[in-house]
Amino acid sequence: MSRAVSLNRRQVLVGAGGLAAVASVAASAVQAASGDGTMLLIPPEPGAQSLDGMWRFHKGDIPSPRPLTHRGSYDSVKSGNAIGAAGHSFDDMDWRLVDLPHDWAIEVGPVPTENLAQGFRARGIGWYRRSFRLDPAQRGHYLELQFGGIATNATVWFNGDVVAHNWSGYTSIYIDITSLAVFGEDNNTIAIRVDADTIEGWWYEGAGLYRHSWLISRPPVHATSDGIHADPRRNTAGDWRLPVEVDVYSIKDAPVEARLTLDLVDRDGKAVATTTTAATLAPLTPTPVRLELDGLKPHLWSVDAPYLYQVRLTVHADGDEADVRTQACGFREARFDAQAGFFLNSEPLKIKGVCLHQDHAGVGVAVPDALVHWRVQQLKALGCNAIRSAHNAPSTALLDACDALGVLVLDENRHFNAAPDYAAQLAWLIRRDRNRPSVILWSIFNEEPSEGTAVGYEMARRLTAVIKALDDSRPVTAAMSSGAFTPVNVGQAVDVVGFNYQQTLYDPFHAHQPTVPVISTEDTSAFMTRGAVTTDRARHVLADNDSEFAVWGASQRRSWREIQSRPFVAGGFVWTGFDYHGEPTPFDWPSNSSCFGLLDLCGFPKAAFYIRQALWVEDRPILRILTPWSGQARETTQVFIATNLEQVDLLLNGRLVGSQKPRPFDMTVFPVVYEAGHLEARGWKGGKVVAVHSVDTPGPARRIRLTPSRAVIRGDGHDSVPITIEVTDGRNRPLAAADDRIVLTVENGRLIGGGNGDPTSLASGNESDVRLFNGLAQAIVQSNPDSQGQLVVTAMSWGLGTSTLSLRIEAGAVPRISPAPARFFIKGWRQSPLVSIRPTAPQTLADNDMNSWAIVSPGDAPPFSAGTGYVTLVAGAGVPAAIHKTGGTIVFERINGAGELWLDGHRVATKPDAAGGPLRGVIPAGLSHMQVTLILEARPDLRTGLPGLVFIEAGG
Ligand code: GAL
Repeated sequence: MSRAVSLNRRQVLVGAGGLAAVASVAASAVQAASGDGTMLLIPPEPGAQSLDGMWRFHKGDIPSPRPLTHRGSYDSVKSGNAIGAAGHSFDDMDWRLVDLPHDWAIEVGPVPTENLAQGFRARGIGWYRRSFRLDPAQRGHYLELQFGGIATNATVWFNGDVVAHNWSGYTSIYIDITSLAVFGEDNNTIAIRVDADTIEGWWYEGAGLYRHSWLISRPPVHATSDGIHADPRRNTAGDWRLPVEVDVYSIKDAPVEARLTLDLVDRDGKAVATTTTAATLAPLTPTPVRLELDGLKPHLWSVDAPYLYQVRLTVHADGDEADVRTQACGFREARFDAQAGFFLNSEPLKIKGVCLHQDHAGVGVAVPDALVHWRVQQLKALGCNAIRSAHNAPSTALLDACDALGVLVLDENRHFNAAPDYAAQLAWLIRRDRNRPSVILWSIFNEEPSEGTAVGYEMARRLTAVIKALDDSRPVTAAMSSGAFTPVNVGQAVDVVGFNYQQTLYDPFHAHQPTVPVISTEDTSAFMTRGAVTTDRARHVLADNDSEFAVWGASQRRSWREIQSRPFVAGGFVWTGFDYHGEPTPFDWPSNSSCFGLLDLCGFPKAAFYIRQALWVEDRPILRILTPWSGQARETTQVFIATNLEQVDLLLNGRLVGSQKPRPFDMTVFPVVYEAGHLEARGWKGGKVVAVHSVDTPGPARRIRLTPSRAVIRGDGHDSVPITIEVTDGRNRPLAAADDRIVLTVENGRLIGGGNGDPTSLASGNESDVRLFNGLAQAIVQSNPDSQGQLVVTAMSWGLGTSTLSLRIEAGAVPRISPAPARFFIKGWRQSPLVSIRPTAPQTLADNDMNSWAIVSPGDAPPFSAGTGYVTLVAGAGVPAAIHKTGGTIVFERINGAGELWLDGHRVATKPDAAGGPLRGVIPAGLSHMQVTLILEARPDLRTGLPGLVFIEAGG
């Protein structure tokens, strides 16, 4: 069959690109490269402030109080009046302070009675609360809260109103709070109840606010969140055009004329093309506006040279500041061919991919962005050119790393469900990620029971339609494990058929459906315990030499051979790149993390890493001795070697012990009679030694060696550095079998997690000590906000003394919004009608009377009094625990009118002057709830009442 098949549904143009949403308004971070190339957290857009710092956290549920009275019920369901922990003035002072990203499930070690698939970690329910103040200069701006991901189901309240329900732990939440926000001295309060008992997967999913959160502030006329779609297309003449569609939104109360300017900015910051247009915007109505640049001759984005431009969009309405938004943009053409596989920029490219879950040792799913970036760098180093985000929407940090480093992405939806709520989750994913050059393929599911049925086909058709309506530039796939041969099946509703395992079916399928592109969406599932020389199933140990794999899987070499030898298979995705918590196949307790990875849970390479590297890397020599050199004298030891070279010579203490010509899909193994010393492999290509690798038998343990991924950390409170911990002998040679316990302390920074890659480890990862496993452990450190100088890590162990490591802190900060001072505002006041005789004691309002007394709100202008007389103002207030013990003060910032303050039937203060002024009253110790009453003189020339806020504070 000809390779030049005409373009049909099956030979899909994967878009002429897409723009990297580096400045995406998605709720997680946009990143920038520091001097050493590490991606750093920067705000997703101008005016964004980080809300990651200092949340109050409570593990466990706090049931909402049940109102029993008429008034209690009536008030509790009115806007702004949420009760209990959801409410505005709840006492959360004894809750723990945490920073985001936060995963509470990783803070406690595995427990045998918990769910195996979730890594035996307890999840449960938790609450978060956070207050902040807004500068009055922000009035009139559009304000939005963004949460990048909350595991798993969440309800969000803002200032006492429920504002979001989140039904997947992988979607972002954007909440327009413009109409609800308060300014100045008043506190804005977010309360979030997180239910992590719900599971969405059969892997570790974590618990809590595990991605970033932002407060977004935009001018009143602006582009919406994920509202910029830049969609580069190659013209037939070879040049490019860049159509951009922008959803523009105005919160003004009358129509406005807006001007939009689109600039394409190159890597040096130079605008290389510009266009403008105008639009009339009705209030509160998102309006799509199109702009287009044409005749472009851009640098292309590729896996070897990931050139990113910035699209800069300026939305300007007369008299207002402009909304300026930028996002990265890459020009590339990608295509799947049913005969010849995948093409990037018209060049064939075999997809050498890995499936990834998102968690890491010690930190669970709360993986700092710098660590995400480091993980992608490790994969790039092994020759991997693609990542499948199994089986859910990835973080924007992962996509930022892939765009920047040149790694393709198979972007996967979580739920195979075409109902409106779930179709909306898919639509969110497409809108968020469709600008990214790295994303080449959408996946609507992973292994579903209905794959081979009419129901599955109809659902797939609908989800594919959701995608195509938002992005017709990329093909759609589904990761199928069966069903592709039934008369009606999901494969008929997607562009590229994804095979999970079933490698013997590639050829029959291709013979049956020769015009359908095929990719291995998942394969291999080989097992290895990093550093294990032999298998010992009783101890849950599997040899690190590609000899163990699942019955449905294959060895690394065999699996790749099936893919590499078939040009029509576009490539494959190994299960998995890194080990992950949960799914401890093939074992049960105490194993609690998987062992499928090419790298372990910490990102330490296993033999599989080098075996794949030897198979995947073509442009440089790969040579690695996989067997540590220690053993029993005179016994024969099998020395495993991974290489892509033509010949390997092995020398022991300078003597040649063997020479072999490796075959790519066979393991190169030398039987060597053991003798302590220096084992050296020399690799030949083209008649020359092009690579040498050696291992040594170490002497006795002498010291701890600490090796950071880089020597610099940004002092922004977010940047993180993984540190490798080893034990070495007197000549700095590592002990591959070391299992020492190391105690860590960190100065001028913090230890956020540790691990060692042992799938049976019962440590939480949260401890201040870590034990080496087969010679390695990892500590992850993070800077403190606004820190300077050096971050110092000290490691200590019995008999090995102390080693220290200093990381230079470089200046840097992420704009952030501080928590508001803790204040307990008294809201929900009722004001009586005017009476002519001064009440001698607080009046009460009947429990069932909702209408005789007006509702008044402190801080707003009080109602006008029609005559002279007296009014009573009443509110109930909970007394915070600290004040209950010691007593405190009730503070009225300002009262108009003379009068008296009563607390629970006792007069506690008097205000003699009619003119507006403050009033304070002592709250005696022992009260847990109080009835607050003001009896005020009213006059028509005064707006009698509460133009200022009312709150409780500690102290007299
Ligand atoms: C697949 C599944 C993956 C993982 C893997 C283990 O069937 O898609 O999520 O469970 O098996 O081999």
